[in-house]
Amino acid sequence: MKKILTWMKATWEGLHLWNYLWGLKNCLDFSKWQDTYIFLANLHSLTSIKDAETMRKNRKAMLLDYFSLIPEDRLENITIYEQSKIDRINDITWILSSVTPYSLMLRAHSFKDSKNKNSEINMAVFNYPMLMTSDIIAYDIDIVPLWKDQTQHLEFARDIAENFHKTYDCEIFKMPYIHCDEKVMTIPWLDGRKMSKSYDNDIKVFEKKDILKKKVMSIVTGSETLEEAKNPDNCNVFALIKLFASKEKQDEIALKYKAGNYWYWHAKLELLEILENFIEPFRKRRKFFEENFDIIEKKLDEWNIKMNKLASEKYEKMMKIVGL
Ligand code: TRP
Repeated sequence: MKKILTWMKATWEGLHLWNYLWGLKNCLDFSKWQDTYIFLANLHSLTSIKDAETMRKNRKAMLLDYFSLIPEDRLENITIYEQSKIDRINDITWILSSVTPYSLMLRAHSFKDSKNKNSEINMAVFNYPMLMTSDIIAYDIDIVPLWKDQTQHLEFARDIAENFHKTYDCEIFKMPYIHCDEKVMTIPWLDGRKMSKSYDNDIKVFEKKDILKKKVMSIVTGSETLEEAKNPDNCNVFALIKLFASKEKQDEIALKYKAGNYWYWHAKLELLEILENFIEPFRKRRKFFEENFDIIEKKLDEWNIKMNKLASEKYEKMMKIVGL
């Protein structure tokens, strides 16, 4: 079994659809055959969240969403844990940073982008890829599903681990591989751009029904007349239908587009129904976990301990190698 690592952000109060598709759905597919790890990247979130209440709220919402969306039987191959509960993760980061060239870090997109946007950034933004590297190599992860513009993170992780190996003439880290799923790389949303919090065009998996409807209805479409035939492959609504509907349903709707006498408005209603049908069974599960959050906390405690142990073992090995 390979070890797959993915993460949830503590930056949002709840999972959005895009996040679900590239992160969790991917993971659920992997978890049929592979050892799958999902962690709450809450130390990373400290770079942007400066308010304890928000941090706690987001943690809870994210955990509720994840636990509600993962089928019970799949939990056998999935481990969910919290980055902040891993005692040695920052110590590992420190040792790695002692062998990592400053010039490498200056090339990090995450740092360059933030620097272009803000006049003052914090040191954690600069060190961001270092901690990410630790997240991966501390547990001998094989594969990290990432989207294209994050490829650099994985190259950094490999370079940083390699530098340690070279400096100390050892081999204690696994070299991780990236997995990119082209289908969900850029899911257009509302205005046709990639779904993203910064464009305010994202949509939560557990969005309230009326808000979901408002958002679906506001998706930007073409301006053909009712009679005109329409091209489904050019349409933001259909792009989402394709991701959530069965193959038969997709074909059926595609035919309607091509036949004409079909408004985009009709397609939006179909999409709304498809999304509602997808979410409905999970809403019940989420309500159950909301009322029984201690079940989640207990499971997390167990998993946090398991992952903590792995990271500590890796740390001990590193310490021996560096002579401390
Ligand atoms: N940097 C990721 C993000 O921006 C989160 C993250 C932290 C991560 N550590 C990681 C991703 C390790 C992959 C592997 O969302």
